[in-house]
Amino acid sequence: MARYFKYKSSADVCADAAKLGHDLKATSDLSPLFQPIDVGGRTVGNRFCVQPMEGCDGTPEGFPDELTYRRYVRFGAGGAKLIWGEATAIEERARMNPRQLLINEATMPALEEMLADCRQAHVDAGYSTNDLLLGLQLTHSGRYSHKTPLMAMRDPILDLVTIDKATGKLVAADKPILTDAELERIGELYVTAAIRAAKIGCDFIDLKQCHRYLLSELLAAKIRPGKFGGSLENRLRLILDVIRAIRGECPDLVLATRMNVFDGIPFKGQGDEFVGQPITVSLPVETSFGAAADDPSQLDLTEPLEVVRRLVDAGIGLINVSLGNPYACPHYVRPAEMPPVDGYHAPEHPLLGVLRHFEATAAVQKAAGNVPVVGSGYSWLQDYAFEAGAANVRDGRCQFVGLGRGSLSQPDFAANLEKHGALNRKTVCRTFSYCTNLMRTKDHPWGQYATGCPPFDKEVYGPLWKEAEAKRVVPKAN
Ligand SMILES: Cc1cc2nc3c(=O)[nH]c(=O)nc-3n(C[C@H](O)[C@H](O)[C@H](O)COP(=O)(O)O)c2cc1C
Repeated sequence: MARYFKYKSSADVCADAAKLGHDLKATSDLSPLFQPIDVGGRTVGNRFCVQPMEGCDGTPEGFPDELTYRRYVRFGAGGAKLIWGEATAIEERARMNPRQLLINEATMPALEEMLADCRQAHVDAGYSTNDLLLGLQLTHSGRYSHKTPLMAMRDPILDLVTIDKATGKLVAADKPILTDAELERIGELYVTAAIRAAKIGCDFIDLKQCHRYLLSELLAAKIRPGKFGGSLENRLRLILDVIRAIRGECPDLVLATRMNVFDGIPFKGQGDEFVGQPITVSLPVETSFGAAADDPSQLDLTEPLEVVRRLVDAGIGLINVSLGNPYACPHYVRPAEMPPVDGYHAPEHPLLGVLRHFEATAAVQKAAGNVPVVGSGYSWLQDYAFEAGAANVRDGRCQFVGLGRGSLSQPDFAANLEKHGALNRKTVCRTFSYCTNLMRTKDHPWGQYATGCPPFDKEVYGPLWKEAEAKRVVPKAN
């Protein structure tokens, strides 16, 4: 298959963007990335964000394990001042996989230790924690809960590709959605989880509304009956109630949200080349947030931007923008050179995927005013990610540059940029999807392989990769 990334300079990337009909800016002056910024009344020392990156390496009970502690020590030592802790479930039923972190009374001390280790590593590497912002992403996995889907709505599109892990089959046509009372209970669980997160030392919590997990699905639930579906007011009712309650309980906690501003629709690989094509859907599409009803491949940010304004009014102090669905349309979430095992070959130039992120994020930053916004989807740009990021920050198109896959391969990316003005070429993520492939490997005694970067964090993840491949549970990328 075509290799897309052939650039020798950021100017080459910008020239390719122009050929694709887009305006991409990059600058070798990285100074905008080293300016401090106020986030919810706290100073954050630079504009580097470690994105939430699940290692799927907790214990079956949801405690962090050896590799989890290791990851946060590496992130802490890496120099980024915004460390966005990974998806952490608010209850057992809400976990996306059997090794996802869980926040409850039992796990609190271990999670507290994990955060403390991260801060200590920051200090040991010569940084101050006064301007470090460290938090956790609180999640309910909704239709992607690993035991059985817990859905906010029956979605005529996503239901076609949602497997019920309890049966191994497509979700049954008569499976009920969560009731209003169940959603209210989930709201209470969010508040309890936030109080616990504040107690163990989180500077912020993220009310996760992305990637079509529960609160993300609720944003799209136009066809849900009752008080949590239909109108935008109804779809926002739960998140706004949760925000209000947390603000009352934890006035000092910075409230953040990672939100989808575009869900897209599912893609499937087609033909000998297995190139992704959108599945056939009937129009207008009603259940894809941020997608144009008559052409769901196009963004319509009217509602997402209204949601941003209302969340800011309600007290959200930090926003992280994402797109797509990691199971149904991964190319929107993380533009990649090679697809993950459950994916398809790129239906578009991955640079278009990066530009979609940048353009959506710029619109969100404009709507959010003084509330800082984190941009996503940078890893595919490899060595040039931060030249583009510096231009985005300089031009007010976002306030933080988030690194996802690249932070697994090079957790000290910020320190390298600070010391050498460049990333360490040897460990720059090439977006070959090794990390996602390990994440998709379930044939492990605990039902889930831990993930990281097999090519560049070889000592730890090389053997895991070999083991997974030997069992032939990780098919070669299509
Ligand atoms: C292994 C892996 C784990 C991830 N874990 C999370 C997570 O816990 N929460 C989340 O919102 N996104 C998660 N993501 C998505 C990333 O945060 C990020 O949005 C995506 O990889 C695109 O950014 P990038 O191009 O810098 O990699 C994960 C992605 C991968 C590959």
